Amino acid sequence: MKVTLAKSAGFCFGVKRAVDMVYEQIEDAKEGPIYTYGPIIHNEEVVKELAEKGVRVIAEDEDLHGLEPGTVIIRSHGVGRKVKEDLENAGFTIVDATCPFVQKIHRYVAKYAEEGYFVLIVGSESHPEVQGIVGWMPNDSYAVISTPQDLEDLALAGEKICIVSQTTFNYNKFQELVEIIRKKGYDILVLNTICNATEERQSEAATIARDVDAMIVIGGKHSSNTQKLFEICKKECQDTYYIQTKEDLDLSVLQSISNVGITAGASTPNKIIEEVQKICQK
Ligand code: F3S
Repeated sequence: MKVTLAKSAGFCFGVKRAVDMVYEQIEDAKEGPIYTYGPIIHNEEVVKELAEKGVRVIAEDEDLHGLEPGTVIIRSHGVGRKVKEDLENAGFTIVDATCPFVQKIHRYVAKYAEEGYFVLIVGSESHPEVQGIVGWMPNDSYAVISTPQDLEDLALAGEKICIVSQTTFNYNKFQELVEIIRKKGYDILVLNTICNATEERQSEAATIARDVDAMIVIGGKHSSNTQKLFEICKKECQDTYYIQTKEDLDLSVLQSISNVGITAGASTPNKIIEEVQKICQK
């Protein structure tokens, strides 16, 4: 079988950096336990492996004072200002693995809100990255939107508007929303903060999916960027499969296929991608 593996499959720069930072902490073995604030990535396998090495995940609603102080690694999604302060006040040492591209959004929203802009954050309200971005707003002059309907409910007349995006938001949907706002004649400042890693992974996946008989998308069930990747591939290739590991592969389906493409979400380790690739090449 011919297998085409996307070059952009798997860990992006920010996730690789965050995971490496956790392993560095394990090696350094400083005093006290090692925690990550939320799972370091949306991948159960990696989180399980880290748990075996003693790394504990702090849940968002956990009582920090009930935990033995140690080192907390902030994941690539980032957190709001208050979360950082609460961790520091509870005696934890912070290792900040927030992706530099996400940090840039934190700086943007803080700056432009201070300058009197109403900040529109394009993204999914429940996503931790967006919650983190909201957590850097110095005031309440913001809204999180993801659909044209969300815009209809907003009274923005007379406002200067700054638009930023969740790094993993779909580029075309972002442009569509920006165009709607632009047509209303508002004074807008558009900061396209969609990460290139996502754009590249999405467009490469679409190109490959167009040319193959079947497409395999590998990633965690809860990973929003993998879900988007799946949607994009499914549009181009009806036989697109969403799997977490090689165990989810339906081998009977593969037998009737001569040309398969593989891509993977930003949180999928290389090891898992290689295993799937090997099975397909057999
Ligand atoms: Fe950073 Fe882009 Fe990855 S924002 S975490 S490099 S998807």
